[in-house]
This record gives sequence, C-alpha cells and structure tokens, in this order.
Amino acid sequence: MNTRRTRIYEGKAKILYEGPEPGTLIVHYKDDATAFNAQKKAVIDGKGVLNNRISEMIFTRLNELGLPTHFLKRLNMREQLVREVEIIPLEVVVRNVAAGSLSKRLGIEEGTALPRSIIEFYYKKDELNDPMVSEEHITAFNWATPQEIDDMMHLAIRINDFMSGLFLGIGIKLVDFKIEFGRLYENDMMRIVLADEISPDSCRLWDIKTQDKLDKDRFRRDMGGLVEAYQEVAKRLGIMPELAEPERSRPQLVKSD
Ligand SMILES: Nc1ncnc2c1ncn2[C@@H]1O[C@H](COP(=O)(O)OP(=O)(O)OP(=O)(O)O)[C@@H](O)[C@H]1O
Ligand SMILES: [Mg+2]
Repeated sequence: MNTRRTRIYEGKAKILYEGPEPGTLIVHYKDDATAFNAQKKAVIDGKGVLNNRISEMIFTRLNELGLPTHFLKRLNMREQLVREVEIIPLEVVVRNVAAGSLSKRLGIEEGTALPRSIIEFYYKKDELNDPMVSEEHITAFNWATPQEIDDMMHLAIRINDFMSGLFLGIGIKLVDFKIEFGRLYENDMMRIVLADEISPDSCRLWDIKTQDKLDKDRFRRDMGGLVEAYQEVAKRLGIMPELAEPERSRPQLVKSD
C-alpha cells in the first residue's frame, strides 16, 4: 500500500484517500463488516473485493443511463477513483418489499410486497443511530433544500427502476437499498449526484426461487455464508468469474492485494 497517499477518512467499510487530481478521491473497500451501528463487527475475507466490483458495475451502468454518479473508474481489486462531493448528511432508503426496520416499526410481515415503492430519509449521525427524519426536518435544519430533496427522490426512483430490473433478470428480488447523494460543484454549477456505494452491504437481495438472502442480513442475523452469497450475486451479474469458483481452485483469493 502506498503510504505517501493522504488518508482523508476511514469509515466502517471503506477508506477515502486523496485522489491523483484535485476534486478526486480514491475509495478503498475494506473487508470489515459492521451492523447495528458498529456494535457488531467482523472481518470477512473477500467482502471488499466483491463490493468494489459489484458497486463498479452498477455505477457504470447508471452513468451509461445518464444518471449522474461520483464514479470515474475502478483502479484495482479494492479501489476505485471517484469525484469528491459534499455528502448530503442523509441516507436515502428505497423499499419495494417490507423488511428490517419497516417491518419492525409498522408491524408488517417481512416479505410483504408494498403497495408502491417507499422512500425514507435517515439523518447520518452515528451518535444518534441514524434516526429517521421527514422532509420537514431536512429543510428546517438545512440538510438539503426542497429542490435537492426533489432531485434525490427523482434519482432514487430511477435508480430503483433500473436496479429492480437488473436484479429481476438474474432471479433476485430487490427488497430495499440505501444510497447517499452529494453535491458536485463544477464551474459555478452545483448538481446532485449519487455517491458512496451500491453493494450487497447496502441492499436487501432475495433469491426469487428460494427466498435465500444474498446480502448483509446474513451477517446481521448470524446466518453465515456471506462471501458465498456476495459471490453468487457477482456471478449472476456476470462479473468476476474467478470469484464464483469453489474455494479449492482459488487458494490465493481474498488475501491477495
Ligand atoms: N464521492 C464522495 N466524496 C466524499 N465523500 C464520500 C464520497 N462517497 C462516499 N463518501 C463518504 O465516504 C465514507 C465511506 O466510508 P464508509 O462507508 O466506510 O463510512 P461509514 O462508516 O458508513 O460512515 P458514515 O456514517 O460516515 O457513512 C462515508 O462517510 C461516505 O458518506
Ligand atoms: Mg457507509
């Protein structure tokens, strides 16, 4: 690892380094897994490599569709080059099927199809456990303007439409996912772009035939087989055939780089 690189931020799952040009960052995907606001932690060999590749694929396709994202290019097995943005301190959650906190809060059985897709906002504040907030809170506290909320909601719906179709085509139900947006300043202009990552860490993905969970709930709920599940997602997306092979034929996997 290049030790001369300036580390800007180390989060729970990724490290941000200064990029080669102003306005760029290098995102390094770690193998660390956390849940319940980092009360539960583990290192899961190979997770970072898989998330880097899966996120790369989805962001590339979104860019091609004209949906603005921070993603520029993948650099290596664990790193990608992105545009630096001013992160809006909100987690935007899109739900298609009831699961997780929505099921708990509203008493709706997990797996119940929602009458329509639902968008929720959570304030990014670990000390407060990322509480759910409404548009009233967001505008009153100036976390985002009404126009920015509108932009985020429109983008979130288009991202959901694209991803639902992408996963449906490979036998996976997109139950819900979390995204983050940022402000990108370009010659006196500002626009909202998709930032952070989209991976099985940030989505709920259920196999349509078996209902098997292919996402981070395997870690949250101590089900095991997390890397195998992420590999299955990668394999179905047509990426990293080397990672879809059984363990014995890839002994150098995950520890390399
Ligand atoms: N293009 C970008 N420019 C600036 N910051 C970014 C960009 N993309 C993602 N980030 C931020 O980088 C961090 C990624 O690290 P990680 O996902 O490990 O964080 P985290 O532990 O989940 O913490 P946080 O609560 O801050 O999200 C996040 O804080 C995310 O908001
Ligand atoms: Mg994060």
